[in-house]
Amino acid sequence: MKVVKEIRAFQQISEFYKCSGKSVALVPTMGFLHEGHISLMQKAKAENDILIVSIFVNPTQFGKGEDFDKYPRDIIRDFHICEKAGADYIFNPEVSEMYGEKSFTKVSVSNVTEKLEGDFRPGHFDGVATVVTKLLNITAPRKFYLGQKDAQQNAVLKRMIRDLNIDTELIVCETIREQNGLAKSSRNTFLTHEQKQKASALYFILNEGKRLILEEKISDADFIYDYASEILKEKAPEFELQYYKITDNYFLDEIKDLSLYNGEILISLACKAGSTRLIDNIIFLK
Ligand code: PAJ
Repeated sequence: MKVVKEIRAFQQISEFYKCSGKSVALVPTMGFLHEGHISLMQKAKAENDILIVSIFVNPTQFGKGEDFDKYPRDIIRDFHICEKAGADYIFNPEVSEMYGEKSFTKVSVSNVTEKLEGDFRPGHFDGVATVVTKLLNITAPRKFYLGQKDAQQNAVLKRMIRDLNIDTELIVCETIREQNGLAKSSRNTFLTHEQKQKASALYFILNEGKRLILEEKISDADFIYDYASEILKEKAPEFELQYYKITDNYFLDEIKDLSLYNGEILISLACKAGSTRLIDNIIFLK
């Protein structure tokens, strides 16, 4: 496994593989890797010849007052995890390498960025879209692998590669969870033992939403929201539910009357457990 820190050096590697006919896969990450990231790497490696993992805590996707400085980092541990998962290359640039030159360009996707997370993290998806465009240009993967955990990020990037005709394919992989249902996340390291236990309520209320829609045939989204937030209040009164929304999984538009809708449903939520912000979702067919 090779660790590369320079853009130019990586572009030469990408050029080589483009000519060789080998299939190259990218798993973009911000490091502090866990089983969620590992599952993406394993799938990407199984389906391709060459696996690249990028590890870069991208400052432009963090807002003012968010946790960029505090974001957990352990690069040596990450290298070992990548090696074990079969990575061939790690791209691990410094911030100065990625953003050192003054830049006048950003990638900004409209519509799908303006809801859900967009209400709470203005500018976040511009940072994501811009850095992922840069990573795709640098590593030129045939496919790149993302987790369902960040459903809106996936919708944004799907839109972006389509709108900009970027020659790559996005593969979305299932969310890996703790035994109690809590979605694995680098930020879980900030949770106390008690918060981790209580956070199982988040997956529970997502599944309750699904049950009410599919089994109880409830069509009023507001009723489902009230029900879910009541359960959370009982199970984890100190958690602050920022949103719990039922949308389609393409434009991410809210579905208020479910009786009129058939297709893929996304229920997504964001919740603050102390100062840690957690997001999660489920996707199912109605
Ligand atoms: P990061 O949060 O490190 O996540 C990298 C990828 O791992 C994302 O596609 C995310 O959805 C996936 N992932 C995280 N937790 C997961 C879990 N429990 N199960 C399955 N997959 C999981 O997302 C980012 O980094 C950044 O925004 C990035 C795309 C790298 C751009 O900076």
